[in-house]
Amino acid sequence: MRLVLLGAPGSGKGTQATRLREHLQVPHISTGDLLRAAVAAGTELGMQAKVVMASGNLVSDDIVLGMLEERLLRSDADNGFILDGYPRNLAQANALEKLLEKIKQPVDVAVQLDVNTDLLVERIAGRAKAEGRADDTPEAVRHRLNVYNEQTAPVVDFYRNHGSLVHVDGIGTLDEVFNRIIAAISHTHDVG
Ligand code: AP5
Repeated sequence: MRLVLLGAPGSGKGTQATRLREHLQVPHISTGDLLRAAVAAGTELGMQAKVVMASGNLVSDDIVLGMLEERLLRSDADNGFILDGYPRNLAQANALEKLLEKIKQPVDVAVQLDVNTDLLVERIAGRAKAEGRADDTPEAVRHRLNVYNEQTAPVVDFYRNHGSLVHVDGIGTLDEVFNRIIAAISHTHDVG
């Protein structure tokens, strides 16, 4: 199963990807997590990404694609993967398509998690209190939502045009949303 999880900041991509990883037995690859690990490790790339991420802007396409390619080539991704946070704009969607063609691992399905803006803001405010992520400040969150609407929302149409998009209502308990995802992707694969 090669699955792309799409959705605005706070829509539940990371939360559901963790559960899907257990269920589908394929790695969860989050470009946000890879970047945060680079920031925490203080690598050159991490130093470059840190300020950009804290402001809510996107890190450069080249940096993220290089990081993603390296991760996808690890053997645990041979039998599939869950991509979370990538692609983030149309250039990334095209780059991913080329990369996956090259490694003969095309996307099976793209799942768009739908959650309204008020609830996104509420969820991220809850996480800001609990975890203190640098980009969860009200100002950065507003900017991340704008970046999402301007740059990432067109990626949904990209997958719709490819015939691989499914929409899932992302409002409800964690189990409810998870069960909806499983039902929505069951036509693409035997997902148990
Ligand atoms: P990234 O890490 O991808 O963050 P994001 O897309 O902004 O998404 P979030 O992590 O905020 O939300 P999520 O949808 O994963 O929701 P979650 O499950 O955490 O990116 C961060 C930054 O990295 C970017 O701004 C950019 O700078 C950079 N970056 C990353 N990828 C990039 C790329 N490809 N190109 C360029 N730059 C890139 O849930 C949110 C909260 O809600 C949690 O507290 C959770 O517990 C709660 N929650 C989840 N589901 C439910 C539910 N059903 N009910 C109640 N609460 C829920």
